Amino acid sequence: MQREEQKFVADHPKSASLYERAQRSLLGGVPMNWMKKWAGKFPVFVAEAHGAHFTDVDGQEYVDLCLGDTGAMTGHSPAVAAEAIARQSKQGITLMLPTDDAVWVGEELARRFGLPYWQFTLTATDANRFSIRIAREITGRPKILVFNYCYHGSVDESFITLRDGVAGARRGNIGPPVNPTETTRVVEFNDLGALEAALAHGDVACILAEPALTNVGIVLPDPDFWRAAAEIARKAGTLLILDETHTICAGPGGYTREHDLRPDMLVIGKPIASGLPAATYGCSAEVAAKITARIHLEDCDTGGIGGTLAGNALSLAAMRATLEHVLTPAAFAHMIPLAQLFADGVAAAIAGANLPWHVTRLGCRAEYLFHPHAPRNGGEAAAAAEFELERFMHLYALNRGVLLTPFHNMALMSPATSAADIAAHTRAFASAVHELTG
Ligand SMILES: Cc1ncc(COP(=O)(O)O)c(C=O)c1O
Repeated sequence: MQREEQKFVADHPKSASLYERAQRSLLGGVPMNWMKKWAGKFPVFVAEAHGAHFTDVDGQEYVDLCLGDTGAMTGHSPAVAAEAIARQSKQGITLMLPTDDAVWVGEELARRFGLPYWQFTLTATDANRFSIRIAREITGRPKILVFNYCYHGSVDESFITLRDGVAGARRGNIGPPVNPTETTRVVEFNDLGALEAALAHGDVACILAEPALTNVGIVLPDPDFWRAAAEIARKAGTLLILDETHTICAGPGGYTREHDLRPDMLVIGKPIASGLPAATYGCSAEVAAKITARIHLEDCDTGGIGGTLAGNALSLAAMRATLEHVLTPAAFAHMIPLAQLFADGVAAAIAGANLPWHVTRLGCRAEYLFHPHAPRNGGEAAAAAEFELERFMHLYALNRGVLLTPFHNMALMSPATSAADIAAHTRAFASAVHELTG
């Protein structure tokens, strides 16, 4: 690790100097707090990014398997989106009035995800927050339910975990507004008995869930989990909100369409406008009718749902270009086999060294975990994390021109990613494993 840290510092003098200068104007020396989480003494400062690659200010080139933690799953600045953004930016950026792109995008989202009505926000966090508000409003219930070690953005209610079976604030939760047990019930993923018991209290407005957990490593649902969970929710009068922000990796209609799930509401953000701030949430006709009946014209701007820049013309132009030309079925047909190639390369190195690790794939996303088999829930996955080992693997890859996300060991494919890019990771991973195991 010391050798890799020294190499990193020696290879990045300009990033080092920018980071030092940034200490005087940016809190923690970065524009956003978790940009510090990269392995290595400081973050790499980017000069430019195209497709699946970027170049840093020191002239080093990288294969990007982080892709802005899914914000750039489209590849960086896909030409057709960049053109739409440039065009719209000269024709009005934000108006508080709709453009025809909004109608096209609403129709396309309905076609892809099977829910008829849509609204827009700037972040997936906001889309989740507003969906929760709607669920609370129409059910008249105060609480939500999440799965242990979920992540849905900076949604206050979601920062709760189970420790030895007892719910409490998640480690690192900064300034929680209230104890999250007041707002939230939390159970382990894939535990239908616990779900049923939690909903039996009759106070849960909605389940907010990723169809497969992706933010504590990948945790796949048991084959019958969602059919049974949806039935339990329906009987309890609890709405089901599926957050597809990461699981869009499963296919053009997300995990929802791939597996024919029927949520009451659905959220997706991040790559939907090729990385320009934009997100959306959709709802069923029943939810739409109930919430519409409760929003009165005079108060509709002060109801706690909204954002001045939400639904702006620029985001919608980018969303239209992205949905029409970038995140297409053909793109997924290219990306998914590449994730399999990544997983095969990692699995071969793990098997070759007899390591008690494994790799999981979900669509065009793959992830390795320092554990012999796939975890069934967030608690198991979190217990298998090895922060120092993770940092070593990330830094080792970075020093050989491959960027993984700074959170766990995730790799994502874009339409611009190539087999040669994956081979670069496979070489770096195999070499790290070889050095670790002697
Ligand atoms: C599943 C999921 N939902 C929502 C979010 C929040 O997205 P944003 O930070 O863009 O609001 C994230 C971010 O990682 C996420 O992984």
